[in-house]
Amino acid sequence: MKTIFSGIQPSGILTLGNYLGAMKHFVPLQDEFNCFYCIVDQHAITVPQDPAVLKENIRRLAALYLAVGLDPEKVTLFIQSEVPAHAKLGWIMLCTAYLGELERMTQFKDKADGRGESIPAGLLAYPPLMAADILLYDTDFVPVGEDQKQHMELTRDLAVRFNNRYGDVFRIPEIRLPETGARIMSLQDGTKKMSKSDPNQGGFISMLDDPDTITKKIKRAQTDSDSAVRYDKAEKPAVSNLMTIYSLCSGKTLDEIEAMYEGKGYGAFKGDLAEVVVETLRPIQARYEQLVQTSELDDILSAGAKKASDVANQVLHRVEKAMGMARLG
Ligand code: TYM
Repeated sequence: MKTIFSGIQPSGILTLGNYLGAMKHFVPLQDEFNCFYCIVDQHAITVPQDPAVLKENIRRLAALYLAVGLDPEKVTLFIQSEVPAHAKLGWIMLCTAYLGELERMTQFKDKADGRGESIPAGLLAYPPLMAADILLYDTDFVPVGEDQKQHMELTRDLAVRFNNRYGDVFRIPEIRLPETGARIMSLQDGTKKMSKSDPNQGGFISMLDDPDTITKKIKRAQTDSDSAVRYDKAEKPAVSNLMTIYSLCSGKTLDEIEAMYEGKGYGAFKGDLAEVVVETLRPIQARYEQLVQTSELDDILSAGAKKASDVANQVLHRVEKAMGMARLG
């Protein structure tokens, strides 16, 4: 059976972008693949986090993973910091990387921008840790949104570089992008990615927003100058983004949506879109509320950490042995 690995940062409440671009796709994969899904708390601390908030966000993310439909009998769900092999291989991958290629990462450049001398070094080391996450499980495929493409290319480069130096140690993973929704855009700016760290709350829908908030945000969402509900990413990025969200939440094709709203304008379209989004999130939110405070969640995470460690430690041993660092065996 082929292996899947993906991770999400517990750095805030997940957005509809995280759901449609990544999480939603994790669910059907659990029936076909050996799946590892990770709460990457060590990635989250590359920027300062409030301890109480981080603790809460880790738990919330674990509950959300299950609430979207992941079955802990089928997948391995775990917290990165509970599997020390990640930090160990992260260091090795950092030593495999070049400063120049890390400085060229666009997410590093964006996050470092404006921080002057005080750029957290963890931001630079972030992609080698992500490479370690993936390589530790002999991963075949990594389902992520488009914003992770450059990190995935670096992961492959580092794995190939390592293999060239030490032999055939790592399996080379492939990215798996969704056909639609790989980049859900901000509701306030159709040219900017929807992001949980957007200071403008109106730009994103959180997976835990209540129906009223969702409806308000969609009603206030940016549209384009004419009033036609038509998919045209270049000319009408804002409406095209809303149509993509509609399509992914309802299962209707873009053509069907265009036909439904021909001659009707944005008002009717936005009203229905709000309903479709509310109904998509409603069952997830209900399951989330049931799960978040249970000890069952802790049992699942403990079992997940153990299962993940068993695999990761074997791969780490293989790596260290190839490098001359495993004294015994
Ligand atoms: P993170 O936590 O920022 O996002 C989690 C997942 O959501 C996707 N995503 C989006 N997809 C579509 N439209 C959007 N607007 C949008 N915003 C976010 C992301 O692409 C991602 O798939 N570096 C990763 C976490 C990570 C990881 C890994 C992922 C660490 N190690 C190993 C895969 C494998 C990140 O910051 O994702």
